[in-house]
Amino acid sequence: PKERWYGSAYLYKYKGFWLGPNQLPGLITLQSHFQAQDTDILLITTPKSGTTWLKALMFALANRKEYPINQNHPLLQQNPHALVPFMELSVSPEKLNPADHSYRCRQLFSSHSPLRLLPESVLSSGCKIVYLCRNIKDVCVSYWHFNKKLGTETSFEEFFDMFCKGVSLSGPVWDHALDYWKESLEKPEKILFLKYEGLKEKPGFHLKLLAEFIGCLISPDEERSGLVDEILGLCSFDNLRNLDVNKYGRGRTTGNEAYFRKGEVGDWKNYLTEEMAERLDQITAQKFHGYGLNL
Ligand code: A3P
Repeated sequence: PKERWYGSAYLYKYKGFWLGPNQLPGLITLQSHFQAQDTDILLITTPKSGTTWLKALMFALANRKEYPINQNHPLLQQNPHALVPFMELSVSPEKLNPADHSYRCRQLFSSHSPLRLLPESVLSSGCKIVYLCRNIKDVCVSYWHFNKKLGTETSFEEFFDMFCKGVSLSGPVWDHALDYWKESLEKPEKILFLKYEGLKEKPGFHLKLLAEFIGCLISPDEERSGLVDEILGLCSFDNLRNLDVNKYGRGRTTGNEAYFRKGEVGDWKNYLTEEMAERLDQITAQKFHGYGLNL
């Protein structure tokens, strides 16, 4: 089945999930060609859950020896999506050849893939997964604004209805998050499951947690020299949003500014009616019932 998404773009339903016209063939190609390495780190989200922020934080954290936090840092020149590309969108069969070091040495990459569509080697290797999700109502509102930038003519009410029915890129968002949540409970050393709201509330704590999870602990010396605050400052919403590259640069589908809107928790209150909020809450409660997950 397919559904109109925005402009002339469609989403296609495959194995229970709605996928984009480039995403679907990308994921299928990865399934048969991609060989994950034990050192790989995969950042997984559904759109609008804080992907850009997570990419920035992880790029700064994982590459801090190669790129110390100073005025020449790559994040000051390039959008986080250019530094940590989506695996399903940036691959071509030639680049997937394991002999191609220009691709393989890039050990930090990202995906919106549902768990069940990941290449088998991602799960069977030592590759680590960081999953970030976000309050569903905020995701919905954020996504509506993003799609407007992409040129959707759909009204908010129509968009909301589709979102509730699970029709959004990599949706249903509940099923996406729940699969990773369950897997993270079984394999906590493999999947670190985080929430946008937690990151906002305790960014320093979570940065250290991320460092520990990927095996590059922040040393006492680094801590004393203020590394945690430096990374958080570099990757903060205000700092990234005001960089020229993020104000005026362009990515594959849209201007980079589209990835920086408000960066707040609870903005849904300004857009959803009481009935809309209730409808989303009900779906969330139903989908997550008995699993101990709350968004
Ligand atoms: P809002 O639309 O609610 O402002 P994604 O990166 O997955 O596309 O998610 C985009 C959302 O993350 C947007 O939310 C955006 O403003 C917010 N965001 C982007 N960069 C951020 C940052 N450095 N810190 C916090 N939130 C950020």
